[in-house]
Amino acid sequence: MTAPTLSWPVDALRSALTPLLPGLVVEVAGQIDSTNSELMRRARAGRLPPTLLVAELQTAGRGRLGRGWQSGDGEAGGALAFSLALPLAPHDWSGLSLAVGLAVAEALHPDIRLKWPNDLWWQGRKLAGILVETASGAAAAGAGRCAIVGIGVNIAPLDGTGFATPPAWLQALLPGVDAPGALLRIAVPLVHALHAFEQTGFAPLAPRFATRDLLAGQPVQLSDGSEGVALGVGPDGALRVRCATGVREVRSAEVSVRPAAPGAPA
Ligand code: BTN
Repeated sequence: MTAPTLSWPVDALRSALTPLLPGLVVEVAGQIDSTNSELMRRARAGRLPPTLLVAELQTAGRGRLGRGWQSGDGEAGGALAFSLALPLAPHDWSGLSLAVGLAVAEALHPDIRLKWPNDLWWQGRKLAGILVETASGAAAAGAGRCAIVGIGVNIAPLDGTGFATPPAWLQALLPGVDAPGALLRIAVPLVHALHAFEQTGFAPLAPRFATRDLLAGQPVQLSDGSEGVALGVGPDGALRVRCATGVREVRSAEVSVRPAAPGAPA
């Protein structure tokens, strides 16, 4: 970990979040391999109090499905990358990452759409990604289980090289916003959303997810090759897809969904 170069509202974050997460540690790194990887290492080592870890640059950012996460073009502040670790004991974990995506979208802008399970999109391009991991109780001292919620938001335009579709960036939606400002908008609603999820799960959130659902009504292709039409998201966060064989409920994180029709959001 190296020292940060930007000015981060660490005291404001600590004051706002500590009443919700007693004992919270807030840290900002200039450069790190991955905020999720670092918190997972701490969890495995048995030293993970509630922690908000922010990085100005990640050298080995991780995305879903074993992919990498490329954020920024090497310039601090071009993207927001952080992970929040907290003890969580929901009755049912299904839909957690959807609840996180919804909280981040609602905290940022009404026009942001959600592409199942938890990508944030704007005008046909990906704006932000979420990687939720869990650590076992033995590692997360005192807690049944610990969630590590990693969020990456593009703040400034990225170098489009290497992307099938160049990503969206938040400043196009919120002119003047910077990475610290985006974090301030997201952090408190995120913790509230995680605590609400712990109490009541995803079902009460499904109607709000539906208002931002990018895939609903769209032809989609599943990674096993089957195709169908997305029918929206069920109360447990499963994507419902009408296929030739009937309605399938897609739950696995190992399924990727792509709009199939030319001209559909991709
Ligand atoms: C995805 O869209 O595939 C998920 C991307 C998640 C990226 C964030 S950035 C902060 C945290 N640290 C990581 O290594 N990944 C997550």
